[in-house]
Amino acid sequence: MPRNIIIDTDPGQDDAVAILLALASPDDLNILGITAVAGNVPLALTAKNARIICEVAGKTDVKVFAGCDAPLTRKLVTAEHVHGKTGLDGIELPDPVMPLQDQHGVDFIIQTLRNEPAGTVTLCPLGPLTNIATAFQRAPDIIDRVQEIVLMGGAYFEVGNITPAAEFNIFVDPQAADIVFKSGVPLVVMSLDVTHKALVTAPYVKGFEDLGTNVGRVVASWTNFFERFDREKYGSAGAPLHDPTVIAYLLAPDLFTGRHINVQIETQSELTLGMTVADWWGVTDRAPNAMFMGNIDAAGFFKLLTNRLSRL
Ligand code: RIB
Ligand code: CA
Repeated sequence: MPRNIIIDTDPGQDDAVAILLALASPDDLNILGITAVAGNVPLALTAKNARIICEVAGKTDVKVFAGCDAPLTRKLVTAEHVHGKTGLDGIELPDPVMPLQDQHGVDFIIQTLRNEPAGTVTLCPLGPLTNIATAFQRAPDIIDRVQEIVLMGGAYFEVGNITPAAEFNIFVDPQAADIVFKSGVPLVVMSLDVTHKALVTAPYVKGFEDLGTNVGRVVASWTNFFERFDREKYGSAGAPLHDPTVIAYLLAPDLFTGRHINVQIETQSELTLGMTVADWWGVTDRAPNAMFMGNIDAAGFFKLLTNRLSRL
């Protein structure tokens, strides 16, 4: 029985690969909808990019919604320096033909969680948590109906990528992250501690190209573009492929290891705003609220990813 999921996303090349991985796995995942949020680039572009990605996969029946265009209280911070002006730089792709749903993404999340049996919908945020937090604020009754939230965000050993202390998705909307991490919903956190071990090096990019498909060619172009920033920054042989780890966890959880620990969000200090304060060493008596992932079988991850992409 495929797992019901809602993908909440700010595409972004790595979001795009995550969405393709999910679309390539219909026997495992039933995508109830894709909700776009402002993050890597403004909402108009993330809502457009989400549809472009579905069309690359030839899955134009997927419902795509536009959600929130700004964080709960803070001014939007974007990441064109990483993802390019369009958010999907790396290859020229046609504007989407498939429609954007009229319903607001937050209303779709609320309606779906109320209509589906309790405990049967997993939320998969790949960007700032604004849509999720807004849904929880507007409809607290849905919170204990959520099966699980598997998100990309935060860091402990890897600390920050947008500031010395904070990972981008959490930093953009720390108030939203605070709501989600305090919600009591079972959380699985794919932090930078994991994604910085999932480096899309040249052999993996070649593996995408060698698929000999349009999807393989497009994914190779996106990952080539996306990695240039991180390679310069980290001097690593490839860029961390952040968001696909969320979908890979749903498909093959044994690829990951982590600890069930307490994680809280810094929302006050300008110096460390958006930091995920993870009690990895159990030095407090704070109750665990998140399965915080720390390691990944990177070879297994890329084998799964490449194999599934070959199906599109
Ligand atoms: O810090 C990495 C995260 O920020 C990824 O989700 C990437 O797409 C950006 O949104
Ligand atoms: Ca993202």
